[in-house]
Amino acid sequence: YSLTPFVDELPLFERAKPVSSLHPHNFRITMREIQAKAHRDIPSTLMWSYGDTPLAPLIDVRTHQPLQVEWVNHLPTQHFLPIDHSLHGCGHDVPEVRTCVHLHGGRTPSKDDGFPEDWFVPGKSHIATYPLLQDATALWYHDHAMGLNRLNTYAGLFGMVLLRDDAEDALNLPSGKYEVPLLIYDRQFTTDGQLFYPDSGDPEHPWVPEFGGSCILLNGKMRPFLEVEPRLYRFRLLNTANSSFFNLTLTNRQPFHQIGSDQGLLPAPVKITNLLIAPAERADLLIDFSQAAGQKIHIINGAVQILEFRVAAKSSQIASVSQSSKTSHVPNGISTSDSIPSTLRTIDRIPESAATVTRTVTLHEYFDKIGNSMLMLLNNKPWHEPVTETPRLNSTEIWEFINLTEDTHPMHLHLVRFQVLDRRAFDVFKYQNNQGTRYLAAATPPDANEQGWKDTVHCPPATITRIIVRFEGYPGKYLYHCHILEHEANDMMRPFEVIA
Ligand code: C2O
Ligand code: CU
Repeated sequence: YSLTPFVDELPLFERAKPVSSLHPHNFRITMREIQAKAHRDIPSTLMWSYGDTPLAPLIDVRTHQPLQVEWVNHLPTQHFLPIDHSLHGCGHDVPEVRTCVHLHGGRTPSKDDGFPEDWFVPGKSHIATYPLLQDATALWYHDHAMGLNRLNTYAGLFGMVLLRDDAEDALNLPSGKYEVPLLIYDRQFTTDGQLFYPDSGDPEHPWVPEFGGSCILLNGKMRPFLEVEPRLYRFRLLNTANSSFFNLTLTNRQPFHQIGSDQGLLPAPVKITNLLIAPAERADLLIDFSQAAGQKIHIINGAVQILEFRVAAKSSQIASVSQSSKTSHVPNGISTSDSIPSTLRTIDRIPESAATVTRTVTLHEYFDKIGNSMLMLLNNKPWHEPVTETPRLNSTEIWEFINLTEDTHPMHLHLVRFQVLDRRAFDVFKYQNNQGTRYLAAATPPDANEQGWKDTVHCPPATITRIIVRFEGYPGKYLYHCHILEHEANDMMRPFEVIA
């Protein structure tokens, strides 16, 4: 397609409506097959969603109050994307359409965490309770069904959750229409506007090692526009792509601020001119349009303008803000919603000495004997082998991801939040030939925008990436995996069990 850019308005989120006003934290969310237009000039696309539009309902709730969601599977019993029945847990002995919902980044008891084998079929539902004993941040919900989640997510099964708390409220960040959730992902369309997902060409093993599409969608639209006022905005960015990383800049490499990452606010705003965001990562961003009245500013990925901001000539609030600043005194350190706070919160670094166990996790890619199909593993073990990682509840561990492949893998652990310790290049050849770990450079500390709490970490090739993690929350079975969904399916995913 060569489609006219910036003809569709960026869709904005609808909040999920509670089941009843008596229970403001109880929701029922239904997975459906829908039709929607990704661009003015292409026909409607068949897809799946957790609602009636491609933008699933936004769950916007307070932390420390249990959230209950009834997840209802109202999907058809046949899939429209190429299932690989040779994948583990995806044989002809299980129903074709299965779903399982995971709240990514949630500190959730095991039984409601969306273990990949806890799937349910069309006509069924699952009621999950999320205690949300954690800090304010953006989470997301997405499918996690064994062997299918890359297809179910590609079909459209994902949505956003915003957790709020008093500490964040006190910062007075832009809110209401000045706070915009932004979901970014890529898709490929057929000439008649339908979702295209590639297959390997081998009908026995249609799995492909990754997906990259030429169309980037924001909140369900291709190259949309958003009208903004010349003031500060907060964008809650989430990468829901199967495999793609996005490298985002603004027009003229204009700087912006990152104030939060996966698990909430950073210690202080970080001024950046570009943001590399991996699948499943979140970035809480402040963009200031106050110097751009009457202009157009774009978000650019690589060289492509993917979103157009049309900045109005005047802010609807300028009058009232300048009036009140004459009459009311704003004490130092307290921000109004159109200034950037200088600090955000205290994050104590976990000392390495707090860790009682260090685990190594090797990341591998293999080709089978014929060389046409690939297998990706953690510690050389497929998913179904017995649990080998058994951290104790409330203990602290260091995990070292030893990447022996040529890809960057975004590694994610369920249940926990962690801190990135460092990254260090090493000699892969020597390591694989049992000559030990030979470092090739000094360790590099995490980037400024990785200095907060994370749940997904970039693990670059030929590098050992170390994280430190306290296993807080609940005992039980969880999992860790690469968040490139194609990798996860074949079989870059392993269980871990928190022992009480
Ligand atoms: Cu986004 Cu297993 O998770
Ligand atoms: Cu991977």
